[in-house]
Amino acid sequence: MKVTVIGSGYVGLVTGTCLAEYGNDVVCLDLDPEKIALLQNGGVPIYEPGLEEMIKRNVEAGRLRFTTDVAESVAHGTIQFIAVGTPPDEDGSADLKYVTAAARNIGKYMSDYKVIVDKSTVPVGTADKVQQALLSELTLRDKHISFSVVSNPEFLKEGAAVEDFMRPDRIVIGVADETAKDLMATLYAPFVRNHDRILYMDVRSAELTKYAANAMLATRISFMNELANLAEVMGADIEEVRKGIGSDPRIGFHFLYPGVGYGGSCFPKDVQALQRTAQENGIELRVLDAVERANSAQKTVLVNKILRRMGEDLTGVHFAIWGLAFKPNTDDMREAPSRVIIQELLKRGATVTAYDPVAMHEAERVMSGWKGLTFSQNPKAALEGANALIIVTEWKAFRSPDFGEMKSLLKQALVFDGRNLYDPKRMQKEGFEYFPIGREQ
Ligand code: UGA
Repeated sequence: MKVTVIGSGYVGLVTGTCLAEYGNDVVCLDLDPEKIALLQNGGVPIYEPGLEEMIKRNVEAGRLRFTTDVAESVAHGTIQFIAVGTPPDEDGSADLKYVTAAARNIGKYMSDYKVIVDKSTVPVGTADKVQQALLSELTLRDKHISFSVVSNPEFLKEGAAVEDFMRPDRIVIGVADETAKDLMATLYAPFVRNHDRILYMDVRSAELTKYAANAMLATRISFMNELANLAEVMGADIEEVRKGIGSDPRIGFHFLYPGVGYGGSCFPKDVQALQRTAQENGIELRVLDAVERANSAQKTVLVNKILRRMGEDLTGVHFAIWGLAFKPNTDDMREAPSRVIIQELLKRGATVTAYDPVAMHEAERVMSGWKGLTFSQNPKAALEGANALIIVTEWKAFRSPDFGEMKSLLKQALVFDGRNLYDPKRMQKEGFEYFPIGREQ
């Protein structure tokens, strides 16, 4: 099938590449010439496990191309995915200017039937706006070409995006007519060979499903984070509580890990956008207001522990930080709790040496010019001479360190762990003062 993907960012690249992998003929469009040049020369602008090899394989097979040419890419695909960015406006609502611009471009150049698929995370009602943008362009050209607008939200997790796309737990398709439904069914058939995991529904329900899923997950995390704070002062252990409640199948074990607050490009933005949509329509989402407040407080939970242990003035205190990305297996620093933690420490006169297995380059970019912050090329070197280690991201490589060596490199045997990587009893035996989340030290 001929497919065009408009927007070669994270979602667009993964979508286009995975569709090419199953034999579709895919063109990925982006208006950023540098990004397209990089992709044309075999480079990949984001870090995502398995993506680079898959792109290479499909480019070599002639099934995947990258271009900045709008007319050519609109002409190419019967199915046109819109996977452009929807950055938050000042008021938290999703800015749809790139989505409508993409729709107008399709309207400007299309000459036969197209299915336009909203893949970007867009508020309920966006499909109607896309439809109007297209219609207004067609009217200008005095053309009567038919088309369908479909909502097909993505549920990819960064760091597991290729796997999530290739083996989806569900594919949500909001569609209003049979022709478009058949085309989407054919496109996704190879991804759901063994089970019928495609959920067809009306367009608005599909649009809302995406926000509902992320908001529900964000709620779980914030709830666990607040329970962890309570467990800690009550002398309970949140890790035991987590197992105790997770074994109820109605609750389940996934996504119950307390930590330093959720970050990334999705949860914070989507929670705000959903609140905004609700407000605009006269509905109060009180639970979500609380989720946001809880999350922003959680980002400083580790700092508060540090201040209680080391005093308010951190002048002359040096910290090692392990983990900068908002979660493992990504270099994404958007809304990463590490940014808040480091800023708070520097503000109080501390110095910081940070290490991350893949996000260092990105971190240097977003934290450039932060006085008192340096980066280390390996985790051990970061520990040298530090008064304490702070763990912010749960990379696998941090799970089994040589504690003896860790102790000898640190100036003080102090570990503040925002991800509960170690057993408190073991840490005590190893001679550390250990501060996890939601469990007694
Ligand atoms: C999230 C959703 O999980 C995807 O289903 C969705 O498609 C995606 O947003 C999106 O809208 O594009 P992602 O932001 O990549 O994916 O990352 P998650 O793995 O969901 O983690 C989000 C944040 O929650 C991270 O900061 C993570 O550290 C935190 N988290 C997650 C916890 O603190 N505890 C948990 O138990 C799980």
